[in-house]
Amino acid sequence: MRTQVVIIGGGPSGLLLGQLLHGAGIEAVVLERKTRDYVLGRIRAGVLERGTVNLLKQAGVDARLRAQGLAHDGTLLASEAGCFRVDFKKHTGETVMVYGQTEVTRDLYDARESVGARTVFEVADVAINGADSDSPSVTFQQDGKGHSISCDYVVGCDGFHGISRKTIPEDVRREYEKVYPFGWFGILSETPPVDHELIYANSERGFALCSMRNANLSRYYVQCSMADHVDNWSDDDFWTELKRRLPEQFADRLITGPTIEKSIAPLRSFVTEPMRWGRLFLCGDAAHIVPPTGAKGLNTAASDVHYLFQGLHAWYDSGDTEGLDHYSERALARVWKAERFSWWFSSLMHRFPDQSDFDLRMQSAEISFLRSNDAAQKAFAENYVGLPY
Ligand code: APR
Ligand code: PHB
Repeated sequence: MRTQVVIIGGGPSGLLLGQLLHGAGIEAVVLERKTRDYVLGRIRAGVLERGTVNLLKQAGVDARLRAQGLAHDGTLLASEAGCFRVDFKKHTGETVMVYGQTEVTRDLYDARESVGARTVFEVADVAINGADSDSPSVTFQQDGKGHSISCDYVVGCDGFHGISRKTIPEDVRREYEKVYPFGWFGILSETPPVDHELIYANSERGFALCSMRNANLSRYYVQCSMADHVDNWSDDDFWTELKRRLPEQFADRLITGPTIEKSIAPLRSFVTEPMRWGRLFLCGDAAHIVPPTGAKGLNTAASDVHYLFQGLHAWYDSGDTEGLDHYSERALARVWKAERFSWWFSSLMHRFPDQSDFDLRMQSAEISFLRSNDAAQKAFAENYVGLPY
């Protein structure tokens, strides 16, 4: 079998790229290791930058997002010194859209099915061959049978644990990593959000975040040890801990209820360079990971997709290789800025096990500066709503 582009991974990066390529008349096959239901069972962050929303619009998958997404024009930051608001609209003229990544993925699968684009689920042993030649191919197993697809380009959208990144030889690849000494315990509950905006809280007991999916679905997180386990926490334990970390005015009005999902996620910063090797391109989590503070994961994946789509479109349209030649460099320039913001915001809001009294004072001085300084708030807002592509 032959196609133009093989996309490995049916997460948001692979699906969005596939949809944009389809719209431009470029044929792409998506290979996904799991089932559609399994992929849609993953719960992830829920804040979309303007650039991501525009890209979803360009792909023709923004109808539900526009009808059900919540536009937020600011966020609340809390610490022992009190609570303040950063106004995105005032500082940047932009807003962000609160809409679950799971819903973005569902919309992309629905769109893909409605145009009859090909997704192969439950593939195993995916291998990329000849990425450094002019005729690459991808082999895989499905239903116990071996398959091979030859193509012009291969795109690795297979997340942090995928095989694509590891296909790039070790002497070509350079990896940068920071693992944080804690995780996020996250829950979903069918309760109204404590506030109409998100609250990021730095408390003596550790970080907490109040987020939401809609008017009756809340998403809350507390910083926890990675040695902890969800089964060690009853719903009551979670609500008690969350309340202790929030300013009183929010703790008092927090509406609690049964949780419908609980999970613990690690925090990691990771980048691999380059994001291209011959005819293989990496996109999204396959190439970089950010800690979730600031919700840059999906948004950074979306900017990769934008640069790669531009490059592939120009090449198929007119044989122009400029966009493909500069893909890695352009994507990485923006990736590193998102890495910086996510690392900085994580460092600002969490309690670290080895933090000295001096480190704690630095954290409160930085929060106090952000609270009182317009230029610092503008820089925060520009990063939060998303740097330009
Ligand atoms: N073969 C085929 N598919 C694979 C393989 C493989 N060898 N390995 C992984 N996959 C699939 C996974 O099952 C998953 O559905 O690739 C997909 C990768 O999806 P994500 O991990 O969601 O990565 P990405 O699409 O880049 O999305 C980036 O998702 O993880 C969040 O924080 C991240 O928000 C960001 C966004
Ligand atoms: C979420 O809603 O899950 C969320 C929101 C903002 C973040 C991280 C996660 O910074």
